[in-house]
Amino acid sequence: MAGERTFWRYFKLSVLTIFSLSAFYYFIMRNDYVHISSLLPNFPKFKPQLNPPEFKPQLNPPEFKPKPNPPEFKPKPNPSEFKPKPNPSEIKPKPNPSEFKPKPNPSEFKPKPNPSEIKPTPNPSELKPQTNYTELKPQPTENPGLTLPLSTTRHPLTPPYPYPYKFLLNPKEKCQKQKPFLVLLVIGDSHDANSRLTIRETWGNESNYRDVAVVTVFLIGIPRVKTETSQKLLEEEMKTYGDIVQQDFMDTYYNLTLKTLMGMEWISKYCPGASYVMKIDNDMFLNVEYLVHHLLQPGLPVHQNYFTGYIVANTGPLRGKEYKWYVPKEVYPNDTYPPYCSGPGYAFSADMAKKIYDVAQTIRVVPMEDSFMGICLYELKIPPTNPPPNIFNGHRIDYDCCKFNKLITVHHYKGDELRKVWKDFWTQRSGCKD
Ligand SMILES: *[C@@H]1O[C@H](CO)[C@@H](O)[C@H](O)[C@H]1NC(C)=O
Ligand SMILES: *[C@@H]1O[C@H](CO)[C@@H](O)[C@H](O)[C@H]1NC(C)=O
Ligand SMILES: *[C@@H]1O[C@H](CO)[C@@H](O)[C@H](O)[C@H]1NC(C)=O
Ligand SMILES: *[C@@H]1O[C@H](CO)[C@@H](O)[C@H](O)[C@H]1NC(C)=O
Repeated sequence: MAGERTFWRYFKLSVLTIFSLSAFYYFIMRNDYVHISSLLPNFPKFKPQLNPPEFKPQLNPPEFKPKPNPPEFKPKPNPSEFKPKPNPSEIKPKPNPSEFKPKPNPSEFKPKPNPSEIKPTPNPSELKPQTNYTELKPQPTENPGLTLPLSTTRHPLTPPYPYPYKFLLNPKEKCQKQKPFLVLLVIGDSHDANSRLTIRETWGNESNYRDVAVVTVFLIGIPRVKTETSQKLLEEEMKTYGDIVQQDFMDTYYNLTLKTLMGMEWISKYCPGASYVMKIDNDMFLNVEYLVHHLLQPGLPVHQNYFTGYIVANTGPLRGKEYKWYVPKEVYPNDTYPPYCSGPGYAFSADMAKKIYDVAQTIRVVPMEDSFMGICLYELKIPPTNPPPNIFNGHRIDYDCCKFNKLITVHHYKGDELRKVWKDFWTQRSGCKD
């Protein structure tokens, strides 16, 4: 019958269309295409839609303890949808056909919570073609039993950790020739090859420092805007300079903590003989000589449990979604942070790297890397050390050679300006009185 045949033809056509659109939508959702900039002003996007208000943990204070107890991290299930034993497959991004309109428009693509972010497993096809999960077992830690299970439900702003991130670029031989007195861990965007060049030519040039061994490495993740050549370019840069440490997490603002933790992991595994480490942003002026000779002092025994920088105390997370540093209660429930050293530049004894790396396996990670270092210090019961006044500057100070000769960091110097200031500083500083 003609009518019935037409019906089946349309039926097949619709099934095909719905299937294709679902596949397309699913692909978009998995593709982590959201850039960090879209996280910034329009935070309402970030409402964890999958998690009803019950998710707000302030109703239940005992759940806040940053203890690695999986049940405490689970969002309170809505009684009406209560399932006695949520299993990981429920978190899986099952596309709901009813949500698929024939013509998806961008506003429907709000990918928060992005299914791939709920599952700490990065899209395998994108990050590691031949991931063999058993090969990527979590790194051995002091207390493997305390490691958080990977299936723990995670707020999209909580960096996925611990997760066995893999080193894609690793200058293992950097510390083999000699034990460095100081390692500079330079933080910058993976795309920002220019800043890396500037730093290699200014304060990051290892050959500037003749009386102590200084090692400079740049910490990066996977470029968030990936092009065919982005990884190739990084590999070439690595071939030329041999100073890039890269792991397979997405290089975004909210993942900065992963970058710092990668630095801690790298020091503890590939540079354990170092004496001191400085974590420094790529838009800073850094006076390595002052740091080495006036603060750390190679003549003295190497400190232990030493962590210093511009100390920030009595602050708490910003809860307003309009801030770049917005941290919701679900991500960090306490109203205050323990004291910490301001992020653009802090220094520590190298023994701290392993201690921090280990303790980070056992507690909830927050996206503000400097605050998170403070939380680790608090867990380790090692308070940060107050430095002499005015040597770590998180704000800008106008360049003055002799003033810069007596401090360690100044914020907001990069590119050509940094080159110019550095050249003057490096050639003129010997004329300054002590
Ligand atoms: C994954 O690695 C494990 C241990 O190294 C090995 O036994 C297994 O065969 C590997 N599986 C695949 C699919 O490669
Ligand atoms: C680093 O300094 C050395 C010696 O001062 C110089 O020869 C070299 O060109 C510098 N490297 C860069 C990348 O500027
Ligand atoms: C952080 O990195 C992980 C792993 O690459 C990624 O899945 C996640 O989307 C990133 N988070 C943010 C907020 O960028
Ligand atoms: C957060 O608050 C709880 C409860 O007051 C406290 O036990 C815990 O030590 C605090 N954590 C931090 C990192 O301050």
